[in-house]
Amino acid sequence: MKKLFVANWKMQKTFDASRAFACTYLENFKLLGQSEHRQIVLCPSFPALSNLNQSFKETNIKVGAQTVSRHNKGAYTGQVSAQSLAEAGCAYCIIGHSETRKYQHESNIDIEHKCKELLKHNVTPIICVGESRKNFEQQQTFEILEEQLALVLQAIADHNHDIEHFVIAYEPLWAIGTGVVPEYTYLEQIFTWLYKECTKHTQTSFSLIYGGSVDATNAQDILNIAHINGLLIGGASLDFDSFSAIINTDY
Ligand code: 13P
Repeated sequence: MKKLFVANWKMQKTFDASRAFACTYLENFKLLGQSEHRQIVLCPSFPALSNLNQSFKETNIKVGAQTVSRHNKGAYTGQVSAQSLAEAGCAYCIIGHSETRKYQHESNIDIEHKCKELLKHNVTPIICVGESRKNFEQQQTFEILEEQLALVLQAIADHNHDIEHFVIAYEPLWAIGTGVVPEYTYLEQIFTWLYKECTKHTQTSFSLIYGGSVDATNAQDILNIAHINGLLIGGASLDFDSFSAIINTDY
């Protein structure tokens, strides 16, 4: 299975900065995208989606959104539908990121609806799950993950079209932007559990990826952990050299 490298630019790059980045590194990205062993996905903020998709049209680089509306269509000021994302060329969309759960009060039910909308429009969902530091310290991780996954896995299992793939991104909140990465033995346990949970509930193919303080110094070790098929990268994806160093690591 291809390793997935997803750049989550959050709200760090403006429209101009996203365009300039794509333009400056287009040829480098073309080369990076050539390997059959990997899939690179760039997730800028909404205004840059269409533009980036145009820039990368002739390459193997895909573009993804950072969230989507749970609704199909209607009077939802400020929201963007899955159909719009698909029309703008998005192949992927992140849902359930801890920052949208926190700042946009996104619930597990919202995430279930968002997932269904994405599936309907053939946009691959990247479903983020992860526990807080408090949950971690109180050893409630599996309980939290089970709760975060239940509805969404059911939605995938019930989906009556042939969806090709979905992605689960495990991002413990205490590892996001902190420079702290969980113990590898802990990640092994989590990903073995995630793998079993996903195979138990659906027949659809999936990738499991890790996010939280990934950089070129830890990427290789993380990618060598069983069942980890890729990385969701925040800070280190903003700079081409650090992002490509992660992508080029030996795994
Ligand atoms: P960092 O890589 O900056 O820790 O961010 C992780 C993240 O939230 C990606 O979605």
